[in-house]
Amino acid sequence: MTARNREDHRNHSRAVFPGSFDPITNGHLDIIGRGLSVFDQVTIAILVNPEKHPLFTVEERVAIIRETFRGEDRVEVDTFSGLLVDYAERVGASVIVRGLRAISDFEYEFQMALMNRRLNPRIETVFMMPAESYSYLSSRLVKEVFQLGGKVRGLVPPVVERRLRERYGSTPPSSPPPRRRARGRRT
Ligand code: PNS
Repeated sequence: MTARNREDHRNHSRAVFPGSFDPITNGHLDIIGRGLSVFDQVTIAILVNPEKHPLFTVEERVAIIRETFRGEDRVEVDTFSGLLVDYAERVGASVIVRGLRAISDFEYEFQMALMNRRLNPRIETVFMMPAESYSYLSSRLVKEVFQLGGKVRGLVPPVVERRLRERYGSTPPSSPPPRRRARGRRT
């Protein structure tokens, strides 16, 4: 490695944006855009969680996000399991980016950020606020609204709308999805 390369490497900032992304929404896209204005590279890291029952498989979520960011070489998509801080260290990221929509997100995020700091003090968590117009938006609501026949245009990238249509057909099913009380925040 030349001195110039070493310098470039040191100056290259990478942030990890972790989550379930089931599916990715325009609120996530907003945060990723803000992340790109601060960091050179943003790695979208999808948690592989066998205990959850997602609508889209991990492979589908990776494909959806790849299509959404096609041509944007500062955004990468990856999957991880185990501790987030271990993953961040492995990929050379010193920052975890999380979106904060409302006060209701705060308590869970605060706990997670402090636990992550305890686990690895070299990794910093940075919170970013999405545009107000996305402050009520969550993946869970998008799925519920779509399944009940509501419009999600403008709330998700076009590829997600298409995948939802493929999954459910254009006629929404008559019964709503089961309401599961999530342990974390409403994603
Ligand atoms: O989209 P989500 O569900 O809000 O994302 C939650 C996520 C993936 C960020 C969180 O569950 C996570 O980091 N899981 C990895 C396991 C871990 O590191 N746990 C200790 C951190 S408190």
